[in-house]
Amino acid sequence: MAPNISRRNFIKKSTAAGVGAALMGPGSATESMAQTGGEGGSLPVVISSANGLEAVKKAMELLKAGSDPLDAVIAGVNIVEDDPNDMSVGYGGLPNEDGEVELDASCMHGPTHRAGAVGALKCIKNPSKVARLVMERSNRIFLVGEGALRFALAHGFKKENLLTDKAREIWLQWKDNLSTHDDWEPPKDKEGNPITHGTINCNAVDTHGSVAGVTTTSGLPFKVAGRVGDSALIGAGLYLDNEVGAAGSTGHGEANIKVAGAHTVVEFMRQGIQPEEACLRALQRIVDVQKRTAKWYGDLQNVNFYAVNKKGQYAAAAIFSESRYSVATAEGARRLDSAYLLKKPAAPKK
Ligand code: GLY
Repeated sequence: MAPNISRRNFIKKSTAAGVGAALMGPGSATESMAQTGGEGGSLPVVISSANGLEAVKKAMELLKAGSDPLDAVIAGVNIVEDDPNDMSVGYGGLPNEDGEVELDASCMHGPTHRAGAVGALKCIKNPSKVARLVMERSNRIFLVGEGALRFALAHGFKKENLLTDKAREIWLQWKDNLSTHDDWEPPKDKEGNPITHGTINCNAVDTHGSVAGVTTTSGLPFKVAGRVGDSALIGAGLYLDNEVGAAGSTGHGEANIKVAGAHTVVEFMRQGIQPEEACLRALQRIVDVQKRTAKWYGDLQNVNFYAVNKKGQYAAAAIFSESRYSVATAEGARRLDSAYLLKKPAAPKK
């Protein structure tokens, strides 16, 4: 069945608008024009964050050739991990506050319901491959830091310098501009926009309805050394159940961890809720938590969820408008608009 890429969903979220008004002042719109897919579902399908267009193409090519869905999504995200121009993932990712690149990744394989993950991994540019090895070559699920590095080296990975000159210059610029009052404010790019979170999440369902997913990131730029975000956490940055489907995230890791976001999306889908609505409901939980705690936790930052169910119906949604995602079906790969809860606030006038 042809994917439903032209269908436009008009979503009213008056509750969210109330939260938005409380958090951001007046002017938050409540209408989303999202592009979702697969009215009745079509297989195979691969979905990822917007930076994964080449990843979903690669994964689809492999699925069509009969690959296991986990092989497919890991080969897909390896393209982004290897790309020095994607500064949110793998080689060329922005470093921690000490100028060291620390990578997080997780993966899950639906048919065997196995999982693997690494956190704060240095010197290895493909943490998704190491996460997969943890899954396949150990009885454990999550290795971090020095132990994760030793595990990778024992399995033949080679140490590499992951800090590109471009990333180092941005880190130096951030250090030059550190506030004397508060070392923890978000770094800014050359235009003065905050540099926040990158990451790639990629999920696939093959022609038999078998599901797999992976999430990989260099995490929050200039983070405290040792900080691990949602991407490495099964249930937050990635979750799947072969009986239901898969979900993953990009964006503000801490906000997502507090609601176990990817697991929440999958559990909504288990109840028969369509992927788009499942993502929006999980995002609403983040907004509700923020509303209750904003006094202590500061401004709301964006979180994106990407979801696909076993039938091949898929969607992505974000807290704020203007987010996109990538998808590949048998008909080809493209970027689509994500659903959202709140209209992105205008940038402050300089
Ligand atoms: N979602 C990526 C991170 O917060 O590290």
